[in-house]
Amino acid sequence: MSSDAPADKRPVVLSGIQPSGRLTIGNYLGAIRNWLPLNADYDTHYMLVDLHAISVRQDPAERLERCYEFIALYLACGLDPDKNVLFVQSHVPAHSQLAWVLNCYTQYGELSRMTQFKDKAAKHADNVNAGLFCYPVLMAADILLYDARKVPVGDDQRQHLELTRTIAQRFNRSHGETFVVPETMTPPIGARIMGLQTPEAKMSKSEDAETNAVYLLDEPKRIERKIKRAVTDMDGAIRFDQENKPGVSNLMSILAACTGDSFETIERDYDGGGYGNFKKAVADAVIATLEPVQQRYAEIRGDEAALREVLRDGAAKANARAAATIERVHHALGFIPA
Ligand code: TRP
Repeated sequence: MSSDAPADKRPVVLSGIQPSGRLTIGNYLGAIRNWLPLNADYDTHYMLVDLHAISVRQDPAERLERCYEFIALYLACGLDPDKNVLFVQSHVPAHSQLAWVLNCYTQYGELSRMTQFKDKAAKHADNVNAGLFCYPVLMAADILLYDARKVPVGDDQRQHLELTRTIAQRFNRSHGETFVVPETMTPPIGARIMGLQTPEAKMSKSEDAETNAVYLLDEPKRIERKIKRAVTDMDGAIRFDQENKPGVSNLMSILAACTGDSFETIERDYDGGGYGNFKKAVADAVIATLEPVQQRYAEIRGDEAALREVLRDGAAKANARAAATIERVHHALGFIPA
């Protein structure tokens, strides 16, 4: 290990979200909110993965707006920059540097098997660029740069995490212990939020119909309308059964995540009262949960200078750690020290 390795000896946690689309209650209840307590036991790093987002085309002005919005929302959700390293991927050049090295330790066949690549390639058939193909390698670089031990991600990223482990182990076998081999950190039960219109699939912040997701900045009226229209079923029972009642189960997950109530409590309180009554309770709980976030967002978003100051500080910390890893990797590869 490099002599200028950071003094913080807590294991590193790292995660990131792409600034595509708009943040949803799925991102909040399923990810960001679960990140909040982790800094008690881990040296936590959360980033905005803007380099990942360019594998799909987006208008630059809109991207810039989204990036500020995401960072302001991270803070509004309670991520404290004094307790977490908050940064933007493109502010740390080592991500791109390490991604190239790892590209040379990743097989074409492995990347061809990634289901997210296959999905995105089908969705964006006119732009199947090399970045889309190599996306998981950049993600591996994100993780390995910081010696992350635990990576909180949803099910859809498990395959990428597995590949990250494979790449790390392969490099370590060739060059000696260079990388920490990371593990997936699974979110708590019930924290996986599905689409309101398509409860069989994860609520997505991009590519979805507006009515499928509740966005963190949606107004109360809009939230109520979306939840009222959420897909349910015909039998009228409030019962958690993901297979046969995915819509109702998803609404129960949302309510449980907002109020902290168990599924048993929810069944007892709402079964027999009809879906209208139940949906009203879900909407009220979501609105109450988002209210403080929206309030803080309104206070924070306007001051871009302050947001950039937070990011500069985060980037300085991230760069220090990442540079030490690059030095280790270059040494392992037999490059002349710079
Ligand atoms: N690929 C992740 C997603 O689409 C985002 C991501 C990029 C990420 N780099 C990461 C997540 C590193 C965790 C760690 O959701």
